[in-house]
Amino acid sequence: MSARDAWKSKLGFILAAVGSAVGLGNIWKFPYIVGKNGGSAFIFIYLACIILAGIPILIAEIYIGKKSQLNPVGAFRFFQKGKFPFSIIGYIGVFCGIIILSYYSVITGWICHYLMLSFRGFSGTETEIKEIFTTMNATPWINIAWHTFVMGTIMLILVKGVRQGIEAVSKILMPMLGLLLFVLVCYSLTLDGMKEAWHFLTYPDFSKISGGSILEALGTSFFTLSLGMGAMITYGSYLKGDVSITKSAVQIASIDTLIAFLAGIVIFPIVFSNNLEPSAGPGLIFQTLPVLFAKMPGGHIVSVIFFSLVLFAAITSAISLLEVAVSFIIDEFKCSRIKAILIMGTVIWLLGILSAVSSWNVAGTPFLDLFDKIASCYMLPLGGLCTALVFGWAITTESKYKEIGTSAVTKTLLFAAKYVSPILLLVVFLKEIGLF
Ligand code: TRP
Repeated sequence: MSARDAWKSKLGFILAAVGSAVGLGNIWKFPYIVGKNGGSAFIFIYLACIILAGIPILIAEIYIGKKSQLNPVGAFRFFQKGKFPFSIIGYIGVFCGIIILSYYSVITGWICHYLMLSFRGFSGTETEIKEIFTTMNATPWINIAWHTFVMGTIMLILVKGVRQGIEAVSKILMPMLGLLLFVLVCYSLTLDGMKEAWHFLTYPDFSKISGGSILEALGTSFFTLSLGMGAMITYGSYLKGDVSITKSAVQIASIDTLIAFLAGIVIFPIVFSNNLEPSAGPGLIFQTLPVLFAKMPGGHIVSVIFFSLVLFAAITSAISLLEVAVSFIIDEFKCSRIKAILIMGTVIWLLGILSAVSSWNVAGTPFLDLFDKIASCYMLPLGGLCTALVFGWAITTESKYKEIGTSAVTKTLLFAAKYVSPILLLVVFLKEIGLF
């Protein structure tokens, strides 16, 4: 066995973690969920969730990984106390990552398809453009081909290892993503709808907020920070030496939130300039935006930039999902990296076919929706809750202070991790399983 891989630099770690965090959750999910929940009032609640549960659990995951230098299963075993086998939490995480990646790869495949289409340019009537999505979705071979392409690409990146694969790719794709986003924000600022969009994003209307919005805010904040299934434990396990965990967690969460907000600034002015509703739902980027791209001046080039950006974001997230499963196989079965990638890549590819064939379903729910529901509504909050409990209650305060520090900010966040986050997560979990 060769020595465990590690990040080359602190910046490399931050970019890789931001790469994991910034994904479809920020650019595809966040804007339409904000739209659905009435704009900026929801953003306030989302920010509160990031601070009260997101950052504390991000700290917990990085700590657990860094301290144990192991994959999620081994890491939880490392902190074992009492009879209950902590490693179960790790197993749930690895399993959850497998499920998420199986459909995440299919959606990333749609993005590839749309990127190709946007090189040619979107044209035709509104119905025709909207039908592109329905036709693609109903044609299994297109979905399977792109899903295969996406899985193949991320497997190839991971073969290169942590430093030359994940870190190197993140160091190229993340700055490019920042640049493309900047170009699009500048473009959106020139649109008529900008004023209305700004108002929508910053003027809170609390009457649209319900109990459901709070749950949705917490769920989304967890998904977008890649928490609850060991992705950040795995990335933390490649950290060595003197790195401030609190500072890194705050940086990662801030950049992730900023990018989600900027994605909103790009999308809403386009929507408002065309007198459309911001709550267009999951079809927002695949149906509403292409119709607008076809009409807008410069829409052709804007759509190429937009779909490249989403693709970069999705690829770096998909890498982190696969790495969790791969690091588990490498550590637990003492297997080579290539073998681990081939095994896990194939398993996930096969599972993804269920989501790629949209007509296959369980009692009317397509597999893609079913897997998303199981993973993001049940497994992530459960995983987050267990992580918070282990970190808050099974690890002594002294060892945390020793590793993380004792500044006032750190102490407050550790307090939140011990008391506030578990309660919030417990409420979400019980609500999701319908207990109240
Ligand atoms: N955070 C990514 C997004 O916003 C998705 C993602 C990557 C993820 N790794 C994860 C979600 C781990 C949950 C758990 O799209």
